[in-house]
Amino acid sequence: MHLTKQEQSFIAGEAGPAAQKAMRILETLGRIYGAEKMIPVTSVQISGVSYANLGEAGLDWLSEMAAGGGQARVFTTLNPAGMDIENYQALGINETFAENQRRVLSAFEKMGVVTTCSCTPYLFGNLPHFGEHIAWAESSAVCYANAILGARTNREGGPSALAAALTGRTPAYGLHLDQNRHPTLQVTVEAHIHSNPDFGAFGKALGDRIQTLEENRVPYILGIEKATLENLKSFCASIATYGGVALFHIPGITPETDTFEPPVEHLILTQEDIDQAKEELTLASPNEVDFISLGCPHLSLREIQQIAQHLKGQKVKKEFWITTSRPIKGMADRMGYTEIIERAGAKFATDTCCVVAPIKGRFKAMATDSAKACYYAYAKNDFKTILLPFDEVIKEALR
Ligand code: F3S
Repeated sequence: MHLTKQEQSFIAGEAGPAAQKAMRILETLGRIYGAEKMIPVTSVQISGVSYANLGEAGLDWLSEMAAGGGQARVFTTLNPAGMDIENYQALGINETFAENQRRVLSAFEKMGVVTTCSCTPYLFGNLPHFGEHIAWAESSAVCYANAILGARTNREGGPSALAAALTGRTPAYGLHLDQNRHPTLQVTVEAHIHSNPDFGAFGKALGDRIQTLEENRVPYILGIEKATLENLKSFCASIATYGGVALFHIPGITPETDTFEPPVEHLILTQEDIDQAKEELTLASPNEVDFISLGCPHLSLREIQQIAQHLKGQKVKKEFWITTSRPIKGMADRMGYTEIIERAGAKFATDTCCVVAPIKGRFKAMATDSAKACYYAYAKNDFKTILLPFDEVIKEALR
């Protein structure tokens, strides 16, 4: 693999031990995937931030990189942490966990990483443009960046994303290359796809089918005429979770579509397929629900406004978490939405989410509008789930 003089100097340790380790990680990755060179990246998103996932071993590695002079060379943001940094007690997070989570964030801060703690960095300033090479972890954000924004990233893990941040480089393979961005599977959806759960169920139905194929695919999707930003972030989260998809194209919606012909291999998904996916994600009955969660991926300001409109003058009867980023929460504070929502008894779980917070086994059944949240609630936290439209989820909290 060709390395520039600067990349060779990183390997030689001239920029310190952290940059040396980072470059070695990227060089190894590049050799494994047959990259011919490194490419500069302009933006990084790092996952693996919750102490619940990292543990002491992960924290030791981060501390070592920080002590070794690691400094982010490009704009770098962070995925959700295991707790709301300012309001963890209200969410039942204990002091020991909180202290460990603060140690994680402090290691990232030392390295110049912006501790936004959100999986929707594109909603508040980490917004790459068309064709920009980036190195993002967090499967839903990766899919959003590739498909919706037309930026170029592979699905990085926490260590390779940090390595990209500390060097400003990533190996040139996979979705950075033109030839790998071509659609390889035409999908026609013959169903009503309008709400977040529709998009989430579609992502599950398609993702499950793709998992049965011999190799991963880039879908070219027909039958979706319009979608909101919120629908698209929900779809990206779902299809990445269930199908491992990091890029898709939808004519009229995603920016690269016009450069491609529809692929020959063709799959049709019907209303029955979508309904079945919804059924598979609804394993709880409404009277079992004791936890409500909205914000997977993290909520936009428009969604928080919608929650405030529904909760004005009401009282929720169940534990209700609203998960979003700190910058969006700041706007919600300014607009008075936070006050309305908290007065109704719902809780902001800013900087975190119902999947990365340490809440395994704490609830019996969760209502949500997110197909991705359903997957992890069941697989990681032992909750049953019920998948509902956004407004219905809010009504469930009031029942
Ligand atoms: Fe984001 Fe957590 Fe969902 S990281 S995509 S809110 S599982």
